[in-house]
Amino acid sequence: MGSNIKITNELEEYINNHSYKLNPIQREIIKYNKTLGEKKKMQISLSQCHLLHLIIKLYNPKKILEIGTFTGLSTLTMGLAMNNDSNLIAIDKNKQTSEIAKNFFVKANLESKINLLIKNASDGLDELLKSKEVFDLVFIDADKENYINYFEKSLKMLKKSGIIITDNVLWYGDVIDKNKNDKLTIKIREFNSHIDKDNRVENIILPIGDGLSICRKL
Ligand SMILES: C[S@@+](CC[C@H](N)C(=O)[O-])C[C@H]1O[C@@H](n2cnc3c(N)ncnc32)[C@H](O)[C@@H]1O
Repeated sequence: MGSNIKITNELEEYINNHSYKLNPIQREIIKYNKTLGEKKKMQISLSQCHLLHLIIKLYNPKKILEIGTFTGLSTLTMGLAMNNDSNLIAIDKNKQTSEIAKNFFVKANLESKINLLIKNASDGLDELLKSKEVFDLVFIDADKENYINYFEKSLKMLKKSGIIITDNVLWYGDVIDKNKNDKLTIKIREFNSHIDKDNRVENIILPIGDGLSICRKL
């Protein structure tokens, strides 16, 4: 089996310095998030920004759904990469961070392309299901307890060959630590097993950021 290199902070910095350059508003969000202390770690990593950008450019999804927006970094990353005729629906229950995210979308001239629903994700997904929405790509990055619920509802609205990308599936590496059996670690393990056994999709897990699952509907 081939071995992987360990990504140190210095190497991560090198990678970021030699990858596509973030848009000024993406950089502004990252700067703002740094003022939030511990909460900053909610945002996706820079390598995840690069990968999301590439996937959107290559795959050209017309309809994107995001579950878990926070201050908008992942949303804006996808919004900036998508074509003019594409649009994105995002869901987050936090009013305060959603208002901040919306301001960044306005600054990036993307407010007409991004519709941020401020509500509980499960309710939001039920409404989208009811209105028979169809998506090409879904990005899940909200409460881990509900990942299977979000995955199941999203899969119903996903086109054939559509993609569901889910963040935090390696959970700081704790998924393989037998001594870690807290509620969230167990939930993430259950999510990974759920997808692994699901013959409606094919899945790969990439060790980028906190681990990204990329799942294609068959
Ligand atoms: C990890 S953060 C998302 C980070 C974001 N993708 C980014 O790149 O900055 C998780 C978000 O999920 C939201 N969230 C948690 N539980 C939720 C729920 N039940 N319904 C809707 N949003 C929820 C939180 O308010 C938080 O903003």
